[in-house]
Amino acid sequence: MDISHYEHHLFPRLHPHVYAWTKVYGRNFICWDGSKCQLFVTEPKLSKEILMNREGAFPKMDMEGCLKKLVGEALTTNEGLKWAKVRKLADRSFHAESLKSMVPEMNSSVAMMLEKWGNYQGKEIDVFQEFRILTIDVISRTAFVAVKNLYKLRFPGISLLVRSDDEVEAGRLELRINDLIMEKVRERERGGELGCDYLGQLIRFSHESDVEKRISTQQLIDEVKAIYGAGNRMTMSLLGWCVVLLATHTEWQDRAREEVKETFGGNTPDADGISRLKIMNMIINECLRLYPPALSLTRKVAKETKI
Ligand code: HEM
Repeated sequence: MDISHYEHHLFPRLHPHVYAWTKVYGRNFICWDGSKCQLFVTEPKLSKEILMNREGAFPKMDMEGCLKKLVGEALTTNEGLKWAKVRKLADRSFHAESLKSMVPEMNSSVAMMLEKWGNYQGKEIDVFQEFRILTIDVISRTAFVAVKNLYKLRFPGISLLVRSDDEVEAGRLELRINDLIMEKVRERERGGELGCDYLGQLIRFSHESDVEKRISTQQLIDEVKAIYGAGNRMTMSLLGWCVVLLATHTEWQDRAREEVKETFGGNTPDADGISRLKIMNMIINECLRLYPPALSLTRKVAKETKI
């Protein structure tokens, strides 16, 4: 497929109605969804003001239907104390130093993927599918890693999270995924070693004697689903667009390849080297600008306010 003639101006294609209305009513406008009033904001300064509001005027939307069943209520949707409790824990599990220590596991996942790609030579590759598998593998190895190989933690059903949009099917999958997660939790509890990864920290929080700090079993399950759901979709989209754009802009592909060769030679990438990759960083930022994985964000209005 020749996509060299594609333009990147996708807003009119992806949100044609919003695009058309901005032309008629301006960059911020009001519209009605039945009896519900909605304010559309496309101006970055105003979006920032809404997202940075610290007075709780614009909380996250409530999740409904099958999305709630599959993704659960977690960091991504919670507010207030419920959010702060787990957010602290996530910050502890994913700070810069701990991310650095995850690089070897990420390298192993990528090596496995590239080995598979060796068999595709001369054939078309569905990169979104490939990166879906890769990101699920990376999340499994890093956020829910085994205690020194004691338990190989994979949630076999977790890839189903991103597929079903059918209400009944979602209910069935929800039960299956919940069981799978709890099976892994019980395995660790029985083994006596909870682990230092994100799952281990979540289990510790669910055992907390202080009720204020404790999280329920359901919240533990939801947090696991949230990390898979949020991390997987976003990253596969970014990686997918990166390789598609590099395939059509071969001069940047050459520059990126040169930079990687210069930085690592024939060695496996490490965290320090990765942080020095300027060209790769520019490419990633440009892909995020042109094809943002999160196209729009929604917020409720919780109290009378002015922006
Ligand atoms: C290209 C990659 C990514 C992009 C563009 C991205 C984008 C975003 C955005 C826009 C939000 C805010 C959503 C809102 O406020 O409504 C968010 C929140 C979140 N993301 Fe990501 N994300 C990425 C990767 C990841 C990964 C890899 C993970 C986990 C493995 C992750 C986990 C989360 C979580 C837990 C939240 C909620 C944080 C909170 O409210 O405290 N994201 N992400």
